[in-house]
Amino acid sequence: MAETQKDSSLFVKKVSRRNMLKTAGAGGIGVLVGASGLGGILSITKASETEQVDNTVPFYGKHQAGITTEVQNHLYFASLNVTTENKQDLVQLFKDWTAAAEKMTKGEPLAESASNAYIPPKDTGEATGLSASNLTITFGVGPTLFVKDGKDRFGLQAKQPAELQGLPKFPLDALEDAWSGGDICIQACADDLQVAFHAVRNLVRIARGKAVIHWAQTGFQRSKQADAKKETPRNLFGFKDGTINPDVKKDSDMNQQVWVQQGDGPDWLAGGSYMVVRRIQMYIEVWDRTTLSEQEKTFGRHRDSGAPLGMKQELDTADYKAKDSNGQPIIPKDSHMALSHGDGTQSILRRAYSYESGMDPQTGSFDAGLLFICFQRRPSKQFIPIQNRLAQSDKLNEYIIHRGSALFACLPGTKQGSYIGETLLS
Ligand code: HEM
Repeated sequence: MAETQKDSSLFVKKVSRRNMLKTAGAGGIGVLVGASGLGGILSITKASETEQVDNTVPFYGKHQAGITTEVQNHLYFASLNVTTENKQDLVQLFKDWTAAAEKMTKGEPLAESASNAYIPPKDTGEATGLSASNLTITFGVGPTLFVKDGKDRFGLQAKQPAELQGLPKFPLDALEDAWSGGDICIQACADDLQVAFHAVRNLVRIARGKAVIHWAQTGFQRSKQADAKKETPRNLFGFKDGTINPDVKKDSDMNQQVWVQQGDGPDWLAGGSYMVVRRIQMYIEVWDRTTLSEQEKTFGRHRDSGAPLGMKQELDTADYKAKDSNGQPIIPKDSHMALSHGDGTQSILRRAYSYESGMDPQTGSFDAGLLFICFQRRPSKQFIPIQNRLAQSDKLNEYIIHRGSALFACLPGTKQGSYIGETLLS
């Protein structure tokens, strides 16, 4: 920093959310040196720098962002129910959402300025001065958008994919309506929670008279700032979570496991993906009274290194056949890892966030856990068989309980001039 301060072409400037992006586009912003609270961001810019502060994720593309995008620090997830009965309202809603999402993911406010004193401002304002923070907004539709209480609500029944049905009830499920289902979902992920919340809040506001919020949940991971080495994040049981996941950089793997392909079902969903959401409460107080050895046997991995039991490094290959001196499998057969791995033929893209929602009024303990989110091409061949195995005999079941559940078809991506959901609604 001392060296950069000597550079005469550097100048310190207070930049607004918009100006920061404009400046980035025009030649690049150098180093962010600190935040000045609600008033703005102090930055040092260098006109000649080609390096840009790249904290925007493009909204348009073949696939929606927020699925294979590098996981951001925060999540604001909302499930909505549609209240209008008019299909044209629904079309307009998705058009308006597309325009708003494009702006917000660029870090732009929904309106240039709040200049008319006689009407409420178009943008709610709390993201003014904040950067885009890698915001992604991902939209999905649930089975009940097609048919609810036996009614073909918007003439879409013929387009409902066979894979988009309510998930089966699994053993030990303790699902509550308050955390389950929904006609539409909005997943907003960003490196700043206020930016993520602002996005959902404004989208819900735009939906007024057409859709209402049914349930919502915030989520977090360790932040990138707190973990410069970008190691695998740890869940609230203290274990590395996300070690074994398909490689999002390999298109062939993504096409095989995550993206719905032409011919899989109705073509409107080709390029989309099925998203399973489970709100899983974790009994952290009970876990904290459990011995380390029992904790490690529960997952099948060492806590500190994240290595499979019997191995040294996190990425070492698990040996499910290895036995200890008593002839017992070193990785217990009912461990979470062994059961979720199965024979290794089923795979899902996990993109979960921890949650904490204060105190559970029923027990007086923390209401904390995992907002488990995974993406896949065919839930019937991926999440459902894995969860069937886990629900029956996962050692982890002693410490967790599934309280919420939903399945959505995340729409394919869209391009400028079109709108999210067009393939379904047009
Ligand atoms: C609170 C609930 C859960 C917790 C705390 C949890 C935690 C973990 C941990 C620590 C691992 C080992 C490290 C890794 O590979 O990421 C793991 C692996 C895995 N989990 Fe979970 N998990 C939970 C729920 C689920 C659910 C509901 C599913 C799917 C139905 C699932 C599927 C998987 C899969 C597929 C793996 C990788 C298995 C392999 O090694 O091939 N998990 N989980």
